[in-house]
Amino acid sequence: MKLIAPSILSADGGQLAEEIAAVEKAGADWIHVDVMDGHFVPNITIGPAIIKSLRKTTKLPFDVHLMIENPDSYIESFAAAGADIITVHVEAANHLHRTIDLIKKSGKKAGVSLNPATPLTQIEEILPDVDLLLIMSVNPGFGGQQFIKNSLTKISKARKMIDELSAKPLLEVDGGVKLQNITEIARAGADVFVAGAAIFGSPNYEETISAMKTAIND
Ligand code: DX5
Ligand code: ZN
Repeated sequence: MKLIAPSILSADGGQLAEEIAAVEKAGADWIHVDVMDGHFVPNITIGPAIIKSLRKTTKLPFDVHLMIENPDSYIESFAAAGADIITVHVEAANHLHRTIDLIKKSGKKAGVSLNPATPLTQIEEILPDVDLLLIMSVNPGFGGQQFIKNSLTKISKARKMIDELSAKPLLEVDGGVKLQNITEIARAGADVFVAGAAIFGSPNYEETISAMKTAIND
């Protein structure tokens, strides 16, 4: 199963409902929602209130990527707002096992994410307990950045770690994913492809998403 998750960070912020409807119609599988707090990353985006409003506008799963400090204090709000998958950063969670547990107890799927410079050894012990592993292929904070090439090796290594498990978390890649590199990212073993600028910056969402789907299923 390979999925495309457009990141609404690069959508027109004044028309988020319309933008989500447009990518839903264009074949998106998930909606990737980037939550930034101005502390963990040098940017600020949206919180639970906007997510709650957007929840009524689409049936697609909300893949909520928390780039925030102290995630434990906000899990309940994001779950209540309508997140389907809640992903936290290993660098932001002091007691990651507890945080993952909190997400699961809220009835949502739990994901863990790694910044580009954070090694996979940091999530070895938690991997069997999560539903999703998100590998950042840019330093988080902004859309439209260049894919960090070394991430391909990390993605392949993560694929091998996952394949050794009986319950396999999905492997998601986020940052600089575009039509030109999506095939090699798929070959490295990714299951879920986040793309912001490459989709919302394109003139025709449907053409872009279907070209991406062809490229990852090659
Ligand atoms: C970066 C975010 C990404 C970002 C991806 O901090 O986590 O989801 O929106 O955007 P592109 O695809 O433009 O690199
Ligand atoms: Zn993201």
